[in-house]
Amino acid sequence: MVVSAQQKLPVYLDVTKPIEERVENALSLITTEEKVALCLAQSKFSSKGVARLGIPEVWSVDGSHGVSDEKIWDEWGGAGWTNDSCTAFPALTCLAATFNPDLSLLYGKSIGEEARYRNKTMLLGPGVNIYRTPLNGRNFEYMGEDPYLASRMVVPYVQGVQSNGVAACVKHFAMNNQEICRGEINVNLSERALHEIYLPAFKAAVQEGNAWSIMGSYNRLRGEHCCHSNFLLNKILKNDWKFDGVVISDWGGVHSTDEAVNNGLDIEMGTYTNGLTTTGHFPFSEYYLANPFRKGIKDGKYDMALLDDKARRILRLIFRTTMSANRPFGRFVSPEHSEAARKIAGEGIVLLKNDNQFFPIPAGKYKKIAVIGENASRSLVVGGGSTSLKVAYEVSPLQGLKDKYGGDHIIYTLGYASGPSMYGREEPSRLNADSLMAAAIEVAKDADIVLYVGGLNKNYFQDCESGDRKSLDLPFGQDKLIDALLNANKNTAVILLSGNAVAMPWIDKVPAIVQGWYLGSEAGNALADVISGDINPSGKLPFTFPKKLEDSGAHSFGKLCYPGDSVNVYYKEDILVGYRWFDTKKIAPLFPFGYGLSYTTFAWSKPAVDKVEAKADGTVKLSFVLANTGKVDGAETAQLYVSKPASAVSRAARELKAFKKVFLKAGESKTVTFDVPVSSFAYYNEAKSGWEVEPGTYTLILGSSSHDIKGKVDLKVK
Ligand code: BGC
Repeated sequence: MVVSAQQKLPVYLDVTKPIEERVENALSLITTEEKVALCLAQSKFSSKGVARLGIPEVWSVDGSHGVSDEKIWDEWGGAGWTNDSCTAFPALTCLAATFNPDLSLLYGKSIGEEARYRNKTMLLGPGVNIYRTPLNGRNFEYMGEDPYLASRMVVPYVQGVQSNGVAACVKHFAMNNQEICRGEINVNLSERALHEIYLPAFKAAVQEGNAWSIMGSYNRLRGEHCCHSNFLLNKILKNDWKFDGVVISDWGGVHSTDEAVNNGLDIEMGTYTNGLTTTGHFPFSEYYLANPFRKGIKDGKYDMALLDDKARRILRLIFRTTMSANRPFGRFVSPEHSEAARKIAGEGIVLLKNDNQFFPIPAGKYKKIAVIGENASRSLVVGGGSTSLKVAYEVSPLQGLKDKYGGDHIIYTLGYASGPSMYGREEPSRLNADSLMAAAIEVAKDADIVLYVGGLNKNYFQDCESGDRKSLDLPFGQDKLIDALLNANKNTAVILLSGNAVAMPWIDKVPAIVQGWYLGSEAGNALADVISGDINPSGKLPFTFPKKLEDSGAHSFGKLCYPGDSVNVYYKEDILVGYRWFDTKKIAPLFPFGYGLSYTTFAWSKPAVDKVEAKADGTVKLSFVLANTGKVDGAETAQLYVSKPASAVSRAARELKAFKKVFLKAGESKTVTFDVPVSSFAYYNEAKSGWEVEPGTYTLILGSSSHDIKGKVDLKVK
């Protein structure tokens, strides 16, 4: 089409026109062939636009904690560009541990800028699958075990990404809570568990965050693959939640043309691949939504309205992003992004134990600090599957500690070794474990203190896509090594870098423990900030650490409950996921949800409520005074849980309904107020297929974790 100076711009190109008008105009101008072509991949990470009309292609990119490098057109492998090394932000478990939605906005905005600079239409993240079992290999990509926490954190993330004119693609919708048999496993769960536990974060991302795209998951629900599930995509997502964005499949998650056409999928990606391992060389024309779809439309088997709906959504995505008038330009590996990564990491690190104020360690306090453990020097931005990153730089914990304390005061030795990071297979280290341990003991003996840096490492089975962990234990002989180090030097602190809970058989002997996550490019700086006391730790656990695996809900009912029989898995713990299980069943965890220490102390006044009776559609205001009674500035996260002691239905002992991270200077105090809608006390009534607030007495429980309770108030709901 040639547009002369005199001619009016076609509506779809007129950026002053509302998006819906532009979409309808574009739809009216494109052929059936062109519409079908919008609905499937043309390369590993892109799908067609309408070249004839200047409508751009859709380019997606992994992942949720750093913008992945450019890939070969139809391969998983990197294309070898030299301008695509990104900033790695901390993994999403760390973000969740900040309990700070402002940081989630900063995170989304920053990573969105990186994606925008790289000209991407869609960022394949964030992931908000619920932490059901500590064995799930992908937990590090998600935001923990609590639907409320994940909801509050995902909304600003999505908004931040999309403020760049880049679509967030919330994944994996839904119940992709294990990697074992992920492509086939059929999840059986109650309507209550579905609506109360597994869907709220997705719902919040869609309805409050206005996410422009969502990714179906590999597994099945009610027998349907989630990438083309009538129930999940047509009914819940598009009908009930009024989602007007694009559903894209997970890579290789499509299995049927009929279902893909009819059941709510819009873009088919990665067919004939199996996660990140196999790549079959099938032409894209053989995709389920390619020739078979085209033929079905031509033969009248499929209604044109189904194709129009998909095309309309994809055009809307393009007009919201690459064809938006006010799309910013983004930036890549900027100092602001490093600063954001460091801040998020610093606020997400959780201090688990700190006997006799082992931490903080100011510079100059010790002459000889032994740093032991492979994770102190290993790259932890690579591995894990699709989130593996090519980064501009990565400050290792060892480097961060050297920069903080001076290289002369640090002696480093590996202590243990794992093999190289491989996807889909393990390769053990060739180094001799006994010699590594013997060397570490020698170093430990001689040092003033030992900082042990271990954990998991994103190798296969150690926090990695497509393979769950095999046990709760630390791998690579680390428990034995930690014991040996403690024998050699009792001033040994343990710093764990992982996206999952681990068993700690040595816990009583260790004076101090830090949970450090996968912290990204600024890992070493952030860890050194916390260890030295430049930053007062304020992270809180976004999931429960069990004492042993069998204590957690998903592992309490035998194999059918996890990992299933390869065909079905049954969520028998029902709504009692994470701390809901531990607290209701009165099982003591190793560390509870919401837990984390500080270098300062806080005093809590008794909470007061503005009313003792409320209506189901009312709001209750709860206030109290929080004071920093220690000598250093710090932040505490006040958490408000609700319980319903007498209920007609089964209830968790308590459920998180609000939280606030409060920053206080030493000696400062502030009044903290929660405005809690009573509607949030509702449970999902299966008989009525809707939410219901039961009348009666509720207890509002204020805590610094799900276990450390600071006050309780009753509220009667009429
Ligand atoms: C993962 C997705 C990812 C996609 C593209 C799949 O294996 O499950 O999370 O976005 O690959 O790399």
